[in-house]
Amino acid sequence: SRPEAGGGASPEKILMPVLSAFWDQPESWTLETYLRHEGYAGMRKALAMAPDDVIAYVKDAGLRGRGGAGFPTGMKWQFIPQGDGKPHYLVVNADESEPGTCKDIPLLFANPHSLIEGIVIACHAIRSNLAFIYLRGEVVPVLRRLHEAVREAYAAGYLGKDILGSGLDLDVVVHAGAGAYICGEETALLDSLEGRRGQPRLRPPFPAVAGLYACPTVVNNVESIASVPAIMNKGKDWFRSMGSEKSPGFTLYSLSGHVANPGQYEAPLGVTLRQLLDMSGGMRPGHRLKFWTPGGSSTPMFTDEHLDVPLDYEGVGAAGSMLGTKALQCFDETTCVVRAVTRWTEFYAHESCGKCTPCREGTYWLVQLLRDIEAGKGRMDDLDKLNDIADNINGKSFCALGDGAASPIFSSLKYFREEYERHITGKGCPFDPAKSTVWA
Ligand code: NAI
Ligand code: SF4
Repeated sequence: SRPEAGGGASPEKILMPVLSAFWDQPESWTLETYLRHEGYAGMRKALAMAPDDVIAYVKDAGLRGRGGAGFPTGMKWQFIPQGDGKPHYLVVNADESEPGTCKDIPLLFANPHSLIEGIVIACHAIRSNLAFIYLRGEVVPVLRRLHEAVREAYAAGYLGKDILGSGLDLDVVVHAGAGAYICGEETALLDSLEGRRGQPRLRPPFPAVAGLYACPTVVNNVESIASVPAIMNKGKDWFRSMGSEKSPGFTLYSLSGHVANPGQYEAPLGVTLRQLLDMSGGMRPGHRLKFWTPGGSSTPMFTDEHLDVPLDYEGVGAAGSMLGTKALQCFDETTCVVRAVTRWTEFYAHESCGKCTPCREGTYWLVQLLRDIEAGKGRMDDLDKLNDIADNINGKSFCALGDGAASPIFSSLKYFREEYERHITGKGCPFDPAKSTVWA
């Protein structure tokens, strides 16, 4: 059951390139290229519909948020109160930073107009005249490309006053964050956008009720919004013909780690890692899968026993993890699981915003214990301590970062406890750092 290098399934049977359909074409990011591929056709259809009908359409299509949590997009839009006299805002969360997650940045780089078109549709639906794109600040080339795409859209009349005579006025502001993981949490993002230090706010109220400047705000992931134009253009039934009843449609899977061909693979929800590996060339030659994450390091890890788990919200959930961001990080038999978990935990400890005690203190202590175990200075009762500390973070922290930090601890102890024990009894790491790429 362990996939080796080499592939079986044909790409035609698995892949469904929609967002990524023309990423390989020259200047795929320009308005001209986008228009050659039915660009802004979905927007034209949506602008001819009443806002509530657009919301109902997206709701019927069954699109679920692609940022990780899978919350139904149409339902989120429906939460925006109407006739309240307040401004409404759309904020696109482009602060992608979950370890292993790398789908929104390539999407924005290769096809920024799909996002801008989706923004126009979403703002029409929620009756908003101002949208923000909160982008991870380090990705300067993407920032430039987004600015250029927004400029092109204004020049073509797809943004600005009275878009295509529809009566919709819409401005888009591209904002570069300063590179803090916590600013991807939606309420910390809003604080950061308002000019404050990015720290999570108490929810409820959810942003849909009191978001940016205390006004009703939809916060959506890049991929969620960029998926809307194709739904409006090709139809909700087309979208529902892919995936499953509760997880319909196509999505981007990011394959990374010790695989032969890392990259973005767009396919219907519900494909399996086995299918994706078979189709993409498998693990790197001569190596076998040991463990993997279904959606970045915040989602409990899987092993080679989970190769046939359908990669949708229900399938991954039933198998004990979360679909998350669909960041499929694959590690082979040369990887020390203790070392990998230490690296992830160091990340969470570094990025903990410090607002709540369980996460601020707990991640620090997890790192101390893991470093000791990894260096051969651990004791057997440290394993119970790890579990205990993670247990005191999980569900007791102010935001999802704490839960995310606890999850690789629980899952690695569940599947690889014996490997932790070998570090303790052998007084050091049994793996050869020269053979693994996780050590740098
Ligand atoms: P959540 O489940 O609390 O909320 C999801 C969305 O639904 C939010 O926009 C929230 O405002 C909305 N929502 C939920 N209940 C609502 C209600 N009753 N009324 C109105 N709106 C409601 O999840 P959360 O904490 O926002 O995100 C956690 C996820 O983020 C994880 O699954 C993780 O995979 C993902 N994540 C993604 C990262 C990335 O780089 N893309 C980074 C870190 C985590
Ligand atoms: Fe900050 Fe961590 Fe608490 Fe979230 S869980 S509020 S990141 S300290």
